[in-house]
Amino acid sequence: MNPVLIAGCGDIGQRVARPYRAQGIAVQGLARSEARAARLRAEGIEPVLADLADRGMLKDLPTAGAMVFYFAPPPTQGERDPLIQNFLTAIDPARRPAKLVLISTSAVYGDCQGAWITEAQAAEPQTARGRRRLDAENTLRRWGRETGVPCVILRVGGIYGPGRLPVARLQKGLPILEPADSPYTNRIHQDDLARVCVAAAQRGLAGEIYNVADGHPGTMSQYFIDVAKALGLPPPPIVSRAEAEKVMSAGMLSYLRESRRLDNRKMREELAVELQYPDLAAGLAALKNTPQQ
Ligand SMILES: NC(=O)c1ccc[n+]([C@@H]2O[C@H](COP(=O)([O-])OP(=O)(O)OC[C@H]3O[C@@H](n4cnc5c(N)ncnc54)[C@H](OP(=O)(O)O)[C@@H]3O)[C@@H](O)[C@H]2O)c1
Repeated sequence: MNPVLIAGCGDIGQRVARPYRAQGIAVQGLARSEARAARLRAEGIEPVLADLADRGMLKDLPTAGAMVFYFAPPPTQGERDPLIQNFLTAIDPARRPAKLVLISTSAVYGDCQGAWITEAQAAEPQTARGRRRLDAENTLRRWGRETGVPCVILRVGGIYGPGRLPVARLQKGLPILEPADSPYTNRIHQDDLARVCVAAAQRGLAGEIYNVADGHPGTMSQYFIDVAKALGLPPPPIVSRAEAEKVMSAGMLSYLRESRRLDNRKMREELAVELQYPDLAAGLAALKNTPQQ
């Protein structure tokens, strides 16, 4: 069994590690702080102290024959992702991984005016956030072609689940856009995403891209309304588009400018993933058994 190395070993990385650990497979994870290293040790993951921004710390990465999961986000500024470039450049040709799985985002597609989209859709990111992710994808694909290491790209929609719901936003009573005017969003439960990552490591084909979402997109406004209801919080106030432009944050407005529905057929069929939470209602129903943050 190939050892596992996770670069960007936070929430999803730790979930991905569990089934490997349960099979007795060694898992290592990059950690850039002692606090993260301690959390990884507690999960049975051996920390490798390294910051992806510091090339000097990336010598001797334990990549030989490893199943590598790259989950670190790009920096928050600029149009490129120098972190993945640092990581790939640091891999010694004598220690090539067996395979690499990258989490990217569906933001690389840009606005599709609510259309259903497959992986054949052209990537036309409209935000710097989306362009940085596309840069990471392109850097990885180039490296995969040059080295022959199979690389798989996952274009992931909004991740949700216990501990990552908009609780603070709802408690503050921040407004949402009129549902009829609200863009579509795509969602995947955090445990299902971890399952998809493991399936991609097993069955994902070299150079392929897979959309990752539950296949039941809904409007962003309906998402906030449904989460509020599931958590027993008051429904958020509703504002018009014109009002939203005045009162919402720049970050939220950038999300409201993009609408698309992710077709997940390739994920379901080629990666043979059966989702535990096939829609938002199933994911929210399961919250009853889980404490919230
Ligand atoms: N939120 C969404 O809905 C969504 C949607 C699509 C894709 N994604 C992406 O999915 C991926 C996995 O998500 P997640 O929830 O697991 O994220 P997460 O919990 O924030 O984990 C990311 C990890 O990357 C590490 N990292 C960041 N910069 C690093 C650096 N310079 N050197 C070493 N490690 C570094 C972080 O380390 P520290 O612990 O030190 O911070 C953290 O442990 C991320 O890339 C995320 O952006 C998210």
